Amino acid sequence: MIKKPAAAFVIGLLLLAWWAMSSPGTNGGIAQAKESRAPATTPSLSNGRAALLPLPPVPAIGREKAALGERLFFEKRLSRDNTISCASCHDPARGGTDRRPVSIGIDGHTGPINAPTVFNAALNFVQFWDGRAASLEEQAAGPVHNPLEMGANWALVISKLTNDESYRLAFAQIYPQGITGETIADAIAAFEHTLLTPSRFDLFLAGNPHALNKQEQDGYRRFLDYGCASCHQGANIGGNMFQRFGVMADYFAGRTPTAADLGRFNVTQREADRHVFKVPSLRNVALTAPYFHDASAQTLEEAIMIMGRVQLGRELTIPDTQAIAAFLKTLNGHWRGHPLP
Ligand code: HEC
Ligand code: HEC
Repeated sequence: MIKKPAAAFVIGLLLLAWWAMSSPGTNGGIAQAKESRAPATTPSLSNGRAALLPLPPVPAIGREKAALGERLFFEKRLSRDNTISCASCHDPARGGTDRRPVSIGIDGHTGPINAPTVFNAALNFVQFWDGRAASLEEQAAGPVHNPLEMGANWALVISKLTNDESYRLAFAQIYPQGITGETIADAIAAFEHTLLTPSRFDLFLAGNPHALNKQEQDGYRRFLDYGCASCHQGANIGGNMFQRFGVMADYFAGRTPTAADLGRFNVTQREADRHVFKVPSLRNVALTAPYFHDASAQTLEEAIMIMGRVQLGRELTIPDTQAIAAFLKTLNGHWRGHPLP
């Protein structure tokens, strides 16, 4: 107990130092935060505060590698017919998603599940709704080979990229082994590791009580008090555990579940994993409608009400929902110094 404020203070200082380095445009906010060292004093905000953590700094990644990964992320030649890139479904200008219920891949194929954001995905403990990829490096091979997404394979992609001298040179500079499936995935993952989006809530966690207005702080309190943070927690406000969708009520009652609805069961074949999903990150969530793996909620407010009902067994009031939505909007982040659109 005694150590907590000190630790929070140290973390706060580290965060501020990183924020100062990474976003030159926000110095005004930083000066304010430094003056008010004490964390926000509202009593119930200390309850469960440790569950939510500020974003870590962007890891040190070679500039060339991240730039190559970025180019590959936008590269349509990763698909069989040169029409689809990673960014087609994970557009940085659309919150790192496509804002569609399901994605449209090669030849107009539609996929079975809603596309999550790539922003902050590096912080997830596993990738995909059902956690079937252990890392970003492992994940990247998935869409390239998926017949509904990019419909290609490494041999085809490697031959296309090898025909392009600029890629040959760029890979040779970084990877002695040149252009391989592994090095393509490694470069893309390196770029994705840079996709962290600090938000106003990080300033608040760092000790600036003015970073959130009254309604937003009220929403944060309700988020903690209702127990949302028992699942949506850590630096990604999610992304660090699996949970059943429908802890307190059967979300899938009255419909025939699709294969995608089975969630983690598809990976483990264990009955206990039926309808179990990776708890999604709530960072930038206001920018990534529609919601849930099946895109069944159109608005953030609707998603919050459903969470109250099926995960917590609580009927949230309209003021609850509005306040929590206001809080979640403070998780809208900045990337490269600009607010995500
Ligand atoms: C046609 C659309 C489409 C394309 C193209 C696509 N993705 Fe995805 N992506 C999705 C969908 C849909 C999911 C969710 C699939 C699932 O969980 O089963 C996903 C999941 C992910 C995830 C996991 C995020 C999380 O929170 O679990 C990452 C990371 C990702 N994609 C990165 C990429 C990269 C890198 C590429 C390019 C190599 C790419 N995607 C190409 C649609 C797409
Ligand atoms: C028992 C764990 C648990 C609790 C408690 C919980 N959630 Fe969730 N939350 C999940 C899971 C799992 C999903 C993914 C469900 C799916 O799409 O299959 C999710 C999804 C969401 C989404 C949609 C995210 C997206 O990108 O589609 C929002 C918003 C959300 N939760 C907010 C909340 C709020 C607000 C609370 C508190 C009122 C809450 N959650 C409580 C586990 C939980």
